[in-house]
Amino acid sequence: MLSAQHRDIVKATVPLLEAGGEALTRHFYGTMLAEYPEVRPLFNQAHQASGAQPRALANGILQYARHIDRLDALGPLVGQIVQKHVSLQVLPEQYPIVGSCLLRAIREVLGPDIATDAVIEAWGAAYQQLADLLIGAEEDVYAAAAARLGGWRGARRFQIARKVPESAEITSFYLKPADGGPVMAFEPGQYIGIRLTIDGQEVRRNYSLSAPPNGSTYRISVKREPGGRVSNHLHDALGVGATVDLFPPAGEFVLAPGERPLALISGGVGITPTLPMLQAAHEQRRPVTFVHFARNAAVHAFRDWVDDLVARSAQARRFYCHEEPGAPVDAHGRISAELLARALPQARDMDAYFVGPAPFMGAVKRLLGELGVPAERMHWEFFGPAAALEG
Ligand SMILES: Cc1cc2nc3c(=O)[nH]c(=O)nc-3n(C[C@H](O)[C@H](O)[C@H](O)COP(=O)(O)OP(=O)(O)OC[C@H]3O[C@@H](n4cnc5c(N)ncnc54)[C@H](O)[C@@H]3O)c2cc1C
Ligand code: HEM
Repeated sequence: MLSAQHRDIVKATVPLLEAGGEALTRHFYGTMLAEYPEVRPLFNQAHQASGAQPRALANGILQYARHIDRLDALGPLVGQIVQKHVSLQVLPEQYPIVGSCLLRAIREVLGPDIATDAVIEAWGAAYQQLADLLIGAEEDVYAAAAARLGGWRGARRFQIARKVPESAEITSFYLKPADGGPVMAFEPGQYIGIRLTIDGQEVRRNYSLSAPPNGSTYRISVKREPGGRVSNHLHDALGVGATVDLFPPAGEFVLAPGERPLALISGGVGITPTLPMLQAAHEQRRPVTFVHFARNAAVHAFRDWVDDLVARSAQARRFYCHEEPGAPVDAHGRISAELLARALPQARDMDAYFVGPAPFMGAVKRLLGELGVPAERMHWEFFGPAAALEG
């Protein structure tokens, strides 16, 4: 039970965590990944190396400590964590591992003078409260997915039914369940968790679902990342007939219901979740502007599919921009206010969805703001741990 005294202690440690939060979580991850090999496959090593994942967790803990009196004030953070956890199949029995490593890290990083037994006890109680909240919310999502038509719980084996190159860097994988059953529908914009074994080591990653739901297969479209483990393995080692394990679709980057015009803005492989969104907008007869930025024609994926849909739709428009000159597109160069103003309709009362590299999304967010799109109408997805967007 979290007492009033526990709350006071936790709140008092916020400035301390703000000052040293990242060191704490780095230490925490180091211990956990070294001592508990069973949770290692869940964590992307590249995210550890860049510091992005420790930063995301530090941010989560700080927000929590700040709002310990009113957990509802955490707002979208809880839902975001729950979806990310569910997509990678975080399980209740793993919470005590994280909890004990976190408390040990607090003790070791802050030292005995600051991390007294009372502080550790308060944080233990606070962690338990948050863990209970997340475990409960995650179970709700697991149960809901299992109850859906074509749904399931845990890992389900899928076979690669087709493999289609979409650009010089991106290849699509059409995945059908090995058990021959149906697959649950998903919200355009959602992603799956994939589990595979490379050189005897289990790894997990997220990939957006890049084709509209059809009840029988899923499609993911993967960019070959230089030096990337899973993307290169998928491109080079897994052909038609190979199998992978999938966790059910998850994610909160989905279209808000309504009739407001949409802007779908993507950079590079960030195009993937916007494709089913474009199809959904088309089916709902919702005005939509599809804006895509690519380096050049060779890496510009799905152009024919988008062109075809736009040609058939009275409400859909598209705008392409290549960074490098050459191909006949609507604009060349990097994203700018002038470019976005040209791409988007005059009326700024729109719901804007954007995905791409973090600096690109930072620029989109800032420029949309300058163009008069209200902040609450902007939605974005990170293809990695969530972070603050800096424009
Ligand atoms: C919600 C979501 C949706 C996504 N959707 C898509 C999608 O539709 N398509 C898509 O292609 N991707 C998508 N991603 C990204 C995807 O999950 C992977 O991150 C991506 O494929 C790279 O994985 P990888 O294993 O190939 O690379 P990793 O092995 O994770 O490496 C990534 C980069 O980090 C470098 N690196 C690796 N390890 C280290 C280290 N120890 N130190 C320093 N650098 C290192 C690598 O050289 C590489 O450049 C999505 C991610 C999320 C979270
Ligand atoms: C109270 C406890 C926990 C909190 C506050 C917490 C918080 C977070 C936050 C803020 C993120 C980033 C979300 C995002 O990027 O959108 C995250 C991601 C993640 N969490 Fe947790 N988490 C907790 C417990 C756990 C447990 C028990 C596990 C399982 C071992 C776990 C595994 C993961 C994984 C694998 C990711 C994604 C990592 C990546 O992107 O590389 N978490 N968590």
